[in-house]
Parts: sequence; structure tokens; C-alpha cells
Amino acid sequence: DWTTGNVIEEQVALIREQVGDKRAICGLSGGVDSAVAAALVQKAIGSQLTCVYVDHGLMRKGETEQVEKDFVASTGVNLKVVDAEERFLTALKGVSDPEEKRKIIGREFIRVFEQAQAEIIADEGPDVAFLVQGTLYPDVVESGGGTGTANIKSHHNVGGLPEDLEFQLIEPLRQLFKDEVRMVGQELGLPEEIVQRQPFPGPGLGIRIVGEVTKERLDLLRDADAIAREELTAAGLDRDIWQCPVVLLADVRSVGVQGDGRTYGHPIVLRPVSSEDAMTADWSRLPYDVLAKISTRITNEVKDVNRVVLDVTSKPPGTIEWE
Ligand code: XMP
Repeated sequence: DWTTGNVIEEQVALIREQVGDKRAICGLSGGVDSAVAAALVQKAIGSQLTCVYVDHGLMRKGETEQVEKDFVASTGVNLKVVDAEERFLTALKGVSDPEEKRKIIGREFIRVFEQAQAEIIADEGPDVAFLVQGTLYPDVVESGGGTGTANIKSHHNVGGLPEDLEFQLIEPLRQLFKDEVRMVGQELGLPEEIVQRQPFPGPGLGIRIVGEVTKERLDLLRDADAIAREELTAAGLDRDIWQCPVVLLADVRSVGVQGDGRTYGHPIVLRPVSSEDAMTADWSRLPYDVLAKISTRITNEVKDVNRVVLDVTSKPPGTIEWE
């Protein structure tokens, strides 16, 4: 009989048996999978687990706090937060090419994560033998079903680890689909914002700024994105939308008229899509009044933005993200 209660009980027993009196590390990304995997392992082995969250400074408004405060409060997990914003911004300086950005972010992420791992091992000793990963059933199928491999979707998993990994993997979600993972997360008492989170790319807002990534542009995009998310949620549209990238065209300026005069600001693109699996997607036919509200608020409240545009391209030919 499949119930979330059974899944949790079964996994808790298995994890306890697997880990024994050793210790485990889990990287948190802010997403659903790593959060639920960590919460399950925490339930099984408690303080034998240490979670690591690398704050790369590319998250949306409030997301880092959700991990640091709400996730910790609801699970009681040991969390090591690494503030690496400066490091990522420095590495991204002057870079506009999307693939170059991804490479840099992925590379820095692995370096920071490995350093955190080494610190944990230095603190806690050689008993640290396990690494928790939020691998889902579709990932297992996609990769041919092998176990114990370190990295399944290197392109899509910014938490991807190098090949020469010496840890044994704990993958408590290997038999689950996404909706089941959400149910398990809910049953474990995780915050709604984490459990119901829509897909968000590992490189974060770094690939939603068309142009160079700077702190100022990130803050601007965070504000615009927060407004769009707030209004979509208020309109009850979260379940209808697969995800809604909000993109800053940092290298484009257009003329506007705001307040007392002429402005020369940046456009924000709304990219709401509906999809089953992100392989194909259609642009969401959002109600005009919701679009109007988002547009009015963004242009009123976000400095240097004087235009909001809607992306009406399906995938293919357009990808969901702009980079
Ligand atoms: P595209 O833009 O290729 O996106 O249509 C398909 C899905 O994948 C997400 N995406 C990424 N996720 N790292 C990730 O972890 C990435 O580099 C990346 N690029 C795109 C995107 O948000 C969508 O859900």
C-alpha cells in the first residue's frame, strides 16, 4: 500500500541501517528534492547529518532565508551556510555568455561545496562516509538505473559533484516521482514555499540577466521577480503555471516617460509557461488584468525598469529560460 507514511517509515529504517553510526553530508539547493531528501535523512539519523547550503547570491528574494530559517526550524537539521556571494560575483565579472556563466557557476559551486565538505570532515572526523542526493525516479531511468553513481544530470544539477567521489550515496527518493516527493515533504512538515516550489535553475538568476551579472542588477531582478511571484500567487495561478522566469534585459535600454520626465531604462521580460516536463512548453495565457497589475507594479516599484514585455513563444523554438 503506497502511502507517504509508509514511504517515510521504510526509508527511515533503510537509512538507519545503511548509515549505522557513521555520518552524512547533504547539499541543500533551496529546491524540493534536496530539502525532502535531507528531511528524511534527518528524521532517520538526526545529528549524524550535516547539511550544507552554498549561498551563491543568485537566489530569488527570500529563498536563502527560507532555507536558513524555515527549513531549519521545521527539521532541526544541522546546517552549515557558506556565504559565497562575493566569490561568485567576482568570478562572473565581465561575463555575458550564457554557457560561460553556467560553467563558472558550476565550477565555483563545486569548489565551495568541497571546501565545506573538507571543513566538516576536519571537524567531525573520518566517520563522514555518506552523501545524500535528491535523485528522483525519472533521473534514475534517464541514467540507465545504476546506483551509487555520483552525478546524473551534470548539466542540470549545479550541485553536481566530481567523479572522484569517495562517499557512498544515500538516495532516499530514488523510487519517487516529483508529486510524491512533494507529498512526502508535506508529511514531514516542510514549509509550503519549499514543498510547492516551481522549477528553478541551479545557476539561478545568473542566467536570467541577459548581459553581465552584477549585484545591482541582481537586486533589481529580485525585486521584479518578487512582484511577479506575489501577483501570480495572489491570483491563484501557481498551479496552472509550470514556472515563470522573470528576465532582465540588462544590455537593452528603451525610452520611457515616468513621473516628471523621460527615462532610459531596462525591460523586464515575463516568461510564464505551462509544461509537463520542461522538454516542451507553451506560453501561459495569463489573464490580462493579472499581467496589467504585474506590469504596473514593476514599472512603479523597480528603479531603472520602464517597460515590461510578455514572451509569447512556445518551446520549441524558444527555450524556457532566455539563456
Ligand atoms: P530550457 O531553458 O532549456 O529549460 O527550456 C528547461 C528546464 O530546465 C531548467 N534549466 C536549468 N536547470 N541548470 C538547472 O538546474 C541549468 O543550467 C538550467 N537551464 C535551464 C529551466 O528552468 C527549465 O525548468
